[in-house]
Amino acid sequence: MTEGTKTLWWDAAAGNIHYIDQTLLPGEYTIVSCTSVDRLATAIRRLEIRGAPALGVAGGYGVALASVTSREKDIRSFLKEVSAAADLLRSTRPTAINLAWGIDRVLGKISSCTDIGTARDLAIQEAETIAREDTDCCHAIGKHGATLLPDTCTVLTHCNAGALACSSWGTALGVIRSAVREGKNVKVISCETRPLLQGARLTAWELAEDGIDVTTITDSMAAHFMRAGAIDAVIVGADRITGDAVFNKIGTYMHAVCARHHGIPFYVAAPLSTFDGEKSERDVVIEERGREEVTTMGNRVFVPDRAHVRNPAFDATPMDLVTAIVTEHGVVRPPLDVRSLLSRTSTI
Ligand code: MRU
Repeated sequence: MTEGTKTLWWDAAAGNIHYIDQTLLPGEYTIVSCTSVDRLATAIRRLEIRGAPALGVAGGYGVALASVTSREKDIRSFLKEVSAAADLLRSTRPTAINLAWGIDRVLGKISSCTDIGTARDLAIQEAETIAREDTDCCHAIGKHGATLLPDTCTVLTHCNAGALACSSWGTALGVIRSAVREGKNVKVISCETRPLLQGARLTAWELAEDGIDVTTITDSMAAHFMRAGAIDAVIVGADRITGDAVFNKIGTYMHAVCARHHGIPFYVAAPLSTFDGEKSERDVVIEERGREEVTTMGNRVFVPDRAHVRNPAFDATPMDLVTAIVTEHGVVRPPLDVRSLLSRTSTI
C-alpha cells in the first residue's frame, strides 16, 4: 500500500464512511461506501474493517455517521439516538479496546452540546482528528521501533498489524516499514494466522505491495524456524494492553513462549489508545467467534458436524514474556504501570 493510502476515511461531501473491504483481499481490492450505523456494525463484525487502531477510527466515524444520519429534531432525543448507536457499535467487538476508546472520545465531545448542528460538526471534527492522530502515532511508533531492529534481520509477525489494521502505515508493520526506509535489510516471516488468515491474506499482501521481502508460513511452523536460528525478533501488534498481559490475535502467546525458549526478543508495537489502565488480564472478555470460521475453508466443510469447536479470537501473553513495547512516545519495558504511563503521556 502506498504511503498515502488510507484504510478508511470520511467522505465529507457524501457524509459517509469509505473503507477497503478486508475480507476480499488479496483477490479483490474493493472500496465500500457505508451509509448507516447498522451496516458499519456488520462490517466490523465481519472483519471488513479490523485491527485495533482501525477499529478506533471506525468507532469515531461511526458516532459521526450516527450524528449525520439522525432525523431527530431536539438535542436530547438526538443524543439519545447517537448514544444507542454507539452502544451497538461498542458491542460488536469486545476485546479491542480502541473501538470503545474511539466511540467514547467522539461521544465525549458532543455530550454537552445544546444544538444538533454543532454536535454534528464536532463529531466529524473529532473523528477526523482520531484518524489523523492514528497515522502520526504509527509513524512515531515506526521511528522508535526501528531502533530495536538490527541492520540485517528476519522478523516474525502474526496476524496483521499493518496499514490495514490502522488508518495507515501500521504498528508492527510500521516498525518494519520505518526500518526499511532507514536502509535496514529486513526480511519478514508472516504467520498465516488461522482461522481467518489475516497474516497470509493481508500482511503478505501489504508487504509484497511495498516491495518488502515477505515469506508466509503456517502458524505451526514458527517454532521450527526459531529453532533453526532463522528468526532474529518477533514483533506483533496488540488489541489491549493491561499491566499484566498483552491481548492480541490468537496464536500470539504461542510465539511469545517459543521466542522466550529460543532467546529471541518479543516486541509489541501499539499506541497508547490500546493500553487499559482499568482492567487486568482476568477482567478482559475474549471474543469468541462462530464455528464456521474454524470448520470451513471457502465452501468446503472439513470438521464433522458433531465435533465441538472453539474459536477464541485473541489470547493473552503474560507481560513477563514481553521484551519491550513500542509506543508513539518511545519504548517501554515491563514491568508496566499502565495508569502512571497514561497519566505521564498524552496522545501526539
Ligand atoms: O481479529 P482482528 O483481525 O481484528 O485481529 C487483529 C489483531 O489481532 C492485530 O494483531 C491487532 O489488532 C493489532 S492492530 C495494529
